[in-house]
Amino acid sequence: MTASPPPVDRGPAPPLRRRSRARRALVLATAGLLAAGGVGALSDTAHAATTLGSAAAAQGRYFGTAVAAGHLGESAYAATLDREFTSVTPENEMKWDAVEPNRNSFSFGQADQIVGHAQSKGMKIRGHTLVWHSQLPGWVSGLGASDLRSAMNNHITQVMQHYKGKIHSWDVVNEAFQDGSSGARRSSPFQDRLGNGFIEEAFRTARTADPAAKLCYNDYNTDGVNAKSNAVYNMVKDFKSRGVPIDCVGFQSHFNSASPVPSDYRANLQRFADLGVDVQITELDIEGSGSSQATSYGNVVKACLGVSRCTGITVWGITDKYSWRSSGTPLLFDGNYAAKPAYDAVISALGGTGGGGGGGSATCSVSYTTTAQWNGGFNGQVTVTAGSTAITGWTATVTVTPPQKVSATWNGSPTWDSSGNVMTMRPNGNGSLAAGASTSFGFTVMTNGNTSPPLLGSCTAS
Ligand code: G3I
Repeated sequence: MTASPPPVDRGPAPPLRRRSRARRALVLATAGLLAAGGVGALSDTAHAATTLGSAAAAQGRYFGTAVAAGHLGESAYAATLDREFTSVTPENEMKWDAVEPNRNSFSFGQADQIVGHAQSKGMKIRGHTLVWHSQLPGWVSGLGASDLRSAMNNHITQVMQHYKGKIHSWDVVNEAFQDGSSGARRSSPFQDRLGNGFIEEAFRTARTADPAAKLCYNDYNTDGVNAKSNAVYNMVKDFKSRGVPIDCVGFQSHFNSASPVPSDYRANLQRFADLGVDVQITELDIEGSGSSQATSYGNVVKACLGVSRCTGITVWGITDKYSWRSSGTPLLFDGNYAAKPAYDAVISALGGTGGGGGGGSATCSVSYTTTAQWNGGFNGQVTVTAGSTAITGWTATVTVTPPQKVSATWNGSPTWDSSGNVMTMRPNGNGSLAAGASTSFGFTVMTNGNTSPPLLGSCTAS
């Protein structure tokens, strides 16, 4: 028997990826059976050892998401984040209005929350963003030129020093160019008062503040070759030729039917990379649904993989329900955190074996049965079955609902997430299973008043 995990309370357990309505009904029915004193069973057939993060890592890339601090307490949100992503970008919490609402008075609370969460899970962090015309507090817009220059440099310095060593890439300047054919800089307090030189100054200040962070310029509607991306390209080329510190260019990649993935997307990324900077896809979302959305997502991933200096992809949110374009359902998980066809397309493009994109590699499935129950507890058993090829190892996750606690396990080797609610089980010793063969592990749950059955996560096989 194995010792129980540390007692940490958390919100309700996350729903299963790809759980259908029928499956949700089955889970509820099982809960009912447990409450009524019956014995329940459920099963989940899952994909091979693949998450967005692991599939991207196999390609030497990170796979990130924008995160809002206010949602981290939602267990399904946090569970999906923790399972799938290897990098985070605070969606709003590092912006000027959030971190320096009053001059030289900094409030890092919400951003720190995201950074702390990411660090505790070993995720990378993108900093977004230091100098931007939007989400700028009123006091900044009211400053004269010399005051504004020192306020900008102070902001960059203070924020970067606060996070020194923790941020892999900073969006130093965001969206400084106009849309359309002019190729001109956008009007902003910085542009209007400091002139073109503000971008260069911001990058030089940033390099001094945290020399280890990659310094990015980030913009939208620059994803294909067009007047706006040409203007950014010329700026980056100029910076590189004059030794102005710039390491990366972020392509936001907000797409919809009016602004689809450009056919020269990869070529555009490549021409920037050829200037000697990394390129990153920084705010990806694609409005739509079904196979057309999936195809577009797959094309974006393939474009990044086609450019060796494309170091990672960040989607602009986890679930459609919290997207800034929620009604356009532009993300990889629906409002119930079920993976969409777009998710499978991304995994498939990354070379993983999700969804229909599989074929021939190791898979396993898991099913759950309550084998005994009593007032205050129950025993659960998970059966792991190899797919159509032999496997040499497997991993299965079981999530219990607080205040439930797992008090014992057998026939497996468990590890726990920091909440103590998510148990990842691996084989004790040799995990080999012939094609179609099964093994099982078990555990005891102390209900502490909650008789919900545990939730099964994906089974991953190797
Ligand atoms: O937090 C307040 C809340 O207290 C208040 O009640 C509510 C009322 O409007 O507003 C809330 O703040 C909103 C904030 O999102 C958090 O939800 C702001 O109004 C809203 O303007 C803000 O929108 C953000 C937007 O940037 C602002 O420009 C989006 O969440 C965020 O996704 C979006 O992200 C930008 C990138 O930073 C840059 N590239 C484009 C991208 C999409 O617009």
